[in-house]
Amino acid sequence: MEENKKVIFSGIQPSGNLTIGNYLGALKNWVKLQDEYDCYFCVVDLHAITVRQEPKDLRRRTLEVLAIYLAAGIDPEKNTIFIQSHVPTHSEASWLLTCCATYVGELGRMTQYKDKSKKYGDSIGAGLLNYPVLMAADILLYNADLVPVGKDQTQHIELTRDIAQRFNNLYSPTFKLPEGYIPKLGAKIMDLQEPTKKMSKSSDNPNSYILIMDPPEVIRKKINRCVTDSIGVVKYTDDQPGIKNLITILNAITGMSIEDIEKKYEGQGYAQFKNDVAEAIVNELEPIQKKVKEFTEDKEYLQSIYKKGAEKAYYVSNKMLRKMQKKIGFIPVSK
Ligand code: AMP
Ligand code: TRP
Repeated sequence: MEENKKVIFSGIQPSGNLTIGNYLGALKNWVKLQDEYDCYFCVVDLHAITVRQEPKDLRRRTLEVLAIYLAAGIDPEKNTIFIQSHVPTHSEASWLLTCCATYVGELGRMTQYKDKSKKYGDSIGAGLLNYPVLMAADILLYNADLVPVGKDQTQHIELTRDIAQRFNNLYSPTFKLPEGYIPKLGAKIMDLQEPTKKMSKSSDNPNSYILIMDPPEVIRKKINRCVTDSIGVVKYTDDQPGIKNLITILNAITGMSIEDIEKKYEGQGYAQFKNDVAEAIVNELEPIQKKVKEFTEDKEYLQSIYKKGAEKAYYVSNKMLRKMQKKIGFIPVSK
């Protein structure tokens, strides 16, 4: 029965155009998990504003991310799909956790924060430091059991567990301790130009990523130009990070095993291999892109989904928020 299903929470920020890293590291797994779990999939716009966003781009991207969820195969009848800023319990719970269960020291140790503070220096927004507390609030408000994300988020999930545990110890058992769900392969798709770095939608060089919405000819060109090596053997090894990344992508899309991929391209060099990787990506993304275009044109349909999602999410999360408030010592408006 629905009530006995374990709960999943995950989200993607509408802070740029989504890449195949987001798709293979997160979205594609959500689609696989949706039948077995009670899922909440959120477009985390409150997280996106931790760095400056142009309002009109933020609006457009928020709806596009929602459309991508649907186009990738997330069923709005089975799952709760919503936009984070529509559900005010997230910001409230985040403040409570900030004050009652989180230390500045541990926030300062987050790799993502350290990387970004290097980039922005002293004028880094305070939201970037507090970002993981909001993520903890997202997850804990729904008592999520599992959080399917890419590898870069494991540290934030560990912190979420620490925060939950601390709150439970200080007051009384309130939250379940969530687990990350990191895919075996595809958890970290690498930059096509610097394959020792994570592929990121915020990179300055468009050749370093493939966007979910990149047209087929652009995908072919980017794969063709991606950095490999002069060894000339298709082998899954850290010595050949570019080739390793392409093997990972091909495996994550087609399910073909690493050994089979290595065997198939034995003695062939890279041209055919690159070609096949590009075609696999194009075949996977083309139908999704078509659906994204249809969904983004139908604003009313999107609205019906995010409205229904927000109502359900508010109902569920508000119960947890009330519990937190009561334990902290706030006076309820009414019994
Ligand atoms: P973000 O773009 O930071 O909102 O990330 C949304 C989701 O995509 C998270 O679960 C990330 O872990 C995942 N993700 C982002 N980039 C990559 C990547 N290069 N490889 C695998 N997963 C990724
Ligand atoms: N921080 C995540 C990222 O950048 C996005 C996110 C926000 C998230 N809240 C979440 C992911 C809750 C999982 C669960 O990728």
